[in-house]
Amino acid sequence: MGGTVVIKWGGGLITHKEHLCTVNSEVIDSLAAACSRSDKKLVIVHGAGSFGHMKAKKYRLAEGRVDGIFQNDAIAEVRSDMLELNDLVMQSLTKHGLHAQTFAPHTWAKGTGPKFEGELPVCDGVTVLFGDVVADSEREFGILSGDDIVFRYATELPDVERVVFAIGGVDGILKIPPARAGPEDLIEIWDPSMFFEGDHATEIDVTGGIGLKASRGAMIAEKGIEVTLVNGEYADRVLAAIEGRAVIGTRIVAGNP
Ligand code: IPE
Repeated sequence: MGGTVVIKWGGGLITHKEHLCTVNSEVIDSLAAACSRSDKKLVIVHGAGSFGHMKAKKYRLAEGRVDGIFQNDAIAEVRSDMLELNDLVMQSLTKHGLHAQTFAPHTWAKGTGPKFEGELPVCDGVTVLFGDVVADSEREFGILSGDDIVFRYATELPDVERVVFAIGGVDGILKIPPARAGPEDLIEIWDPSMFFEGDHATEIDVTGGIGLKASRGAMIAEKGIEVTLVNGEYADRVLAAIEGRAVIGTRIVAGNP
């Protein structure tokens, strides 16, 4: 048994982002199969995609309590939609023989961003977490991204070997927007001194929030932990990345201090 690998399943990868609450079961099954073929201890954090972002945006949940908008039903709905997506992830993991346990963040985490409060739960098998609507002491509630959960697990568990961000639609961080990019535009090694062009960042953020992953990835790399971003539609790349083998994707490194 190897050390621990923290893996993010991007919401844009495991759901169909443009249609409310629609899941991409094929991708979930192929990710679960890849995870079951590794002997690493895994922490899996999944995103929201169409189970979270649409309602959260409509009711401005990321801003916390906003006067004049009735947000309570939306908070309950997004939490329940996330539990539904999580249930599908758990069923797939179980089907692939993995012993997994899930810990809904709204039951143990408070606050948003990388400094959220709460003791990180872990189990003996695969520990599963996800982006969620959590309580916040200043704004009453907010959206805790799975990318921040990845950062905290990667940097606080004692034996983390590497972090893998599995994303949808792109092979890694690209030099130009994905619509115009070819294989030669993949950035194989990225550090924070390599700024994104404005319209590049906006374009990619809309299709998968790659900006936050790059930033959290660099913060993790600073602590000496390997970080790789791969196209999660290819199960072989996901497995290679989990095991630290050479793979098509972007290796995120800390910049020169
Ligand atoms: C977002 O979590 C959570 C909600 C909108 C409820 P993430 O930031 O981890 O989700 P993705 O990966 O971008 O979909």
